[in-house]
Amino acid sequence: MTIKIAPSILAADFARLGEEIERIADHVDMLHIDVMDGHFVPNLSFGYPVIASIRKVTDLYFDCHMMTSNPDWYIDRLVEAGGNLLSVHIEVFPDPSNVHGKAVEAGLDFGLVLNPQTPVEAVEPFLDLCNQVLVMSVEPGFGGQSFIPGALSKAEQCRSLIDRAGLNVDLQIDGGVTVETAPLARSAGVNVFVAGSAIFGKADPVAAVTALRNAIGG
Ligand code: DX5
Ligand code: ZN
Repeated sequence: MTIKIAPSILAADFARLGEEIERIADHVDMLHIDVMDGHFVPNLSFGYPVIASIRKVTDLYFDCHMMTSNPDWYIDRLVEAGGNLLSVHIEVFPDPSNVHGKAVEAGLDFGLVLNPQTPVEAVEPFLDLCNQVLVMSVEPGFGGQSFIPGALSKAEQCRSLIDRAGLNVDLQIDGGVTVETAPLARSAGVNVFVAGSAIFGKADPVAAVTALRNAIGG
């Protein structure tokens, strides 16, 4: 599967968000957009008006990671704002069939996310609904945390289930992704790498993207 780099704008300077995105746009494959509601996770980030504003400065694919308790209430808002993929937590939707149907009907791609303590078995029956599966390698809610090594065996398990079922599903990892941890995730079968601090936290974000690509051979 194609290796993709997905910078998380959570680590960008929000006062200069447009410039930060334009600077890296030609070097990355998509943008990872972390929406938090202060309820599903103990933090707030940003919502649809911000997504709509950044849509004006880029055509990049918007991978929207909804760390919210009711992402299905606002699917039309996400479409209007320019979102491309709706990624929802399996902890919020133990049976995601309904929210998947709404997302697809609205024209969005669909992804499922697993928290560090959630077993892969939770998403296993629903892999065929997904364009992407996201294995969290930190507790969701904050950037800048350390990679949880247990995510690697979960990624391996996901990748082998996806491959055994003959599905074309991207496998993403999110949290603590660096030049040290990304190669481990790559070996576990991950092909989409979210990185916040390891890109926007660096003095030269373009060089940081190149360093990540070199580390994973992509
Ligand atoms: C955490 C978010 C991540 C976060 C990653 O809840 O889902 O996308 O931005 O940040 P880093 O790469 O700094 O760990
Ligand atoms: Zn995220």
